[in-house]
Amino acid sequence: MPQYKENIEKAAARIKNICPRTPKTALILGSGLGDWIGPESIRQRIPYADIPGFPVSTVQGHAGALLLAEIGGESVFVLSGRFHLYEGYDARTVTLPVRVLGLLGVETLVLTNAAGALNPLFATGGLMLLTDHVNMTGHNPLTGPNVDEWGPRFPDMSAVYCPALRAKALRAALDCGQRVEQGVYVAVAGPSLETPAETRMYRIIGADAIGMSTVPEAIAAHHMGIKVLGISCLTNKNLPDCMAATSHEEILAQANASAAALGALLSALIPQLGGRHA
Ligand code: HPA
Repeated sequence: MPQYKENIEKAAARIKNICPRTPKTALILGSGLGDWIGPESIRQRIPYADIPGFPVSTVQGHAGALLLAEIGGESVFVLSGRFHLYEGYDARTVTLPVRVLGLLGVETLVLTNAAGALNPLFATGGLMLLTDHVNMTGHNPLTGPNVDEWGPRFPDMSAVYCPALRAKALRAALDCGQRVEQGVYVAVAGPSLETPAETRMYRIIGADAIGMSTVPEAIAAHHMGIKVLGISCLTNKNLPDCMAATSHEEILAQANASAAALGALLSALIPQLGGRHA
């Protein structure tokens, strides 16, 4: 544990050294969702390999760099490439970048992901704002000794996804003419996709979308008092009674196709995040 904390402090110090002015907002981009940030928006690029203590992302579609970008005239940190439980990382390693952002003073974190739609009314290619989550990964980033400087031992989870931030995202969606759904995201560890019976169960327990990320990061961010907005790009339908085979390639291709919609929404939203959210 002291080693984990030390790694995080070292990583934060390196980033601060390269990039002394920390933006208040950070984005984590899910599989295939990064292409809407053009090279002209990128002010600085720090490969994860240059940040001490950062794990190395092993997934296709995850480039692995911390970007300082300018979106809608605002500076933001962008974590392009994230770490997943299914790669074999534990939940603390998966959330190491979030801890680093917290230490750097980031106040708002936008978590994006590719997800399967469990709600039969939600269309492939659509966006969903997370209202809540169900953690079915079997892991929790807060397991083990608590770092009291970061947050409480038993953090409240009654509003992980900041309602005021979601209201701003809904307003931004209206402004840019982008339809968005709202719903509950269930996180699973993966990497196998769901059987029809599992899909039925996840729907019955109240989820609208399913994916293999976001929840550990949301828990760690909320623990540190960072405001969280979650956005799913619905890349496939995951319905028990008309189950269609899908693949990571199909999911990535659909995520690439949805990246423009996500980009439009975030470009409208980010300029509104300068002020306080609560
Ligand atoms: N299940 C789990 N994870 C996913 C899916 C899915 O259907 N689509 C994208 N990520």
